[in-house]
Amino acid sequence: MEYTLNIPAPNEKQKLFLSDTHKYVAFGGARGGGKSWAVRVKSVLLALQYPGIKIMIVRHTYPELRANHITPLREMLGSLAVYKETAKEFLFPNGSVILFRHCQTEKDVDKYQGTEVDVLFLDEATQLSEEQYNRFKACVRGVNKFPKRIYLTCNPGGEGHAWVKRLFIDRSYNSGENADEYSFIQSLVTDNKALLSSDPDYIKQLEALPPKLRKAWLEGDWNIFEGQFFEDFVDRPEYYKERRWTHVIEPFEVPPEWNIVRSFDFGYSKPFSCDWWAIDYDGRAYLILQLYGCTANPDEGVRWYPDRIFKEIRRIECEHRWLKNRRITGVADPSIWDDSRGNAVIDSADRHFVYFSKGDNRRLSGWMQCHYRLAFDENGLPMVYFFNTCKHAIRTLPLLRFSQTDPEDLDTHMEDHFADSFRYFCMSRPVSPTRAAPVRELTDDPLNQRIQYDPFTYR
Ligand SMILES: Nc1ncnc2c1ncn2[C@@H]1O[C@H](COP(=O)(O)OP(=O)(O)OP(=O)(O)O)[C@@H](O)[C@H]1O
Ligand SMILES: [Mg+2]
Repeated sequence: MEYTLNIPAPNEKQKLFLSDTHKYVAFGGARGGGKSWAVRVKSVLLALQYPGIKIMIVRHTYPELRANHITPLREMLGSLAVYKETAKEFLFPNGSVILFRHCQTEKDVDKYQGTEVDVLFLDEATQLSEEQYNRFKACVRGVNKFPKRIYLTCNPGGEGHAWVKRLFIDRSYNSGENADEYSFIQSLVTDNKALLSSDPDYIKQLEALPPKLRKAWLEGDWNIFEGQFFEDFVDRPEYYKERRWTHVIEPFEVPPEWNIVRSFDFGYSKPFSCDWWAIDYDGRAYLILQLYGCTANPDEGVRWYPDRIFKEIRRIECEHRWLKNRRITGVADPSIWDDSRGNAVIDSADRHFVYFSKGDNRRLSGWMQCHYRLAFDENGLPMVYFFNTCKHAIRTLPLLRFSQTDPEDLDTHMEDHFADSFRYFCMSRPVSPTRAAPVRELTDDPLNQRIQYDPFTYR
């Protein structure tokens, strides 16, 4: 039976991808460049060109496989190939097969151990660990005449950021890896004219992302994890012409009418941080006092078990002239309510009359709130200052680096307990982003909205 397959024309970058015959080809490096489309089309073209070839398409989760590949391919192929739901594969009349496999956990890869394929597509390879990648790579084998290739698509960020960057961006090879076998084709959203004309808002959504993510997903920048996480924190005012452009100031007497908020992050093997913030009439916050220490590793010979911490907090609040006889509200790390391993830390706080409400632990919004507070307005005024006596806050904020897997989070292996306490405080009194920072806040990845959106008909 004669069958005509109508495939829209590929754009220039997709053409390069479709005709690339290197053993390892990576495509994309940014959002919306037409990567998943190219995977679908290339897999079908290979299936038709090489009767009997075995192809596997891998994605992190099954719902993503279904939305990005299986459903659009069913529409595109019509009766040209039969889809077997249980086996999760398309069978072509010429004997070619396209298999779909997801890989969320290490166990998932175990299941595919014995699978042999000729061509492997790893869509969103940056979501796979290097170990998972190596194990999938081992499935590409077989004694036959078919080409053996691995096609990857990728965005900066994600668990696999480092190995994808090494192989395809930095091109730094270990022994046994042959540079001539690797090819990278960058495709940005601006290369995807079909998307730009059908959904002009898409690029606006990318432009509205927080700065690091925007550089990564819109411009395809792979160096997003370098630099300080709080590059907007200014602790050396002498470097600025205008003295007020700083966050660190000399202490002053806190007016008795100002509200006081206490924020707290607990750490057992890492330090805890208890921080007292005074709030002026404009809502500007001043970190006035800090109690900081570690339970597991004695600091100056003191082990800070919860009872000791809260006893000391209580003593400070009863005796310190900036705090005594004031109504102090507290906000804390929600994990201190956890009693799954015995007594919750909060019980100890209650015993010492130190009360807290649960902090909002949404990390991305929380960090955005910290950045909004740190941002200077046109007069050089931020919404948060730190008394120069709060030495642990001033010491740790500039040390924090970006996480190596999540471009909007910090590396949680570092000394981040003051930063977390700062985040809970900021989330308890959110400020408007518009006063200084031109960045819109995100509650979810807006790009996901496009999953249901399919403006194209293939028939
Ligand atoms: N050559 C083309 N002709 C027509 N439509 C296309 C073409 N290339 C891509 N598209 C459409 O553009 C949209 C985005 O493409 P695609 O999903 O492949 O991008 P992506 O790079 O995988 O995006 P993401 O980063 O979100 O995974 C889809 O609706 C897709 O069908
Ligand atoms: Mg995609």
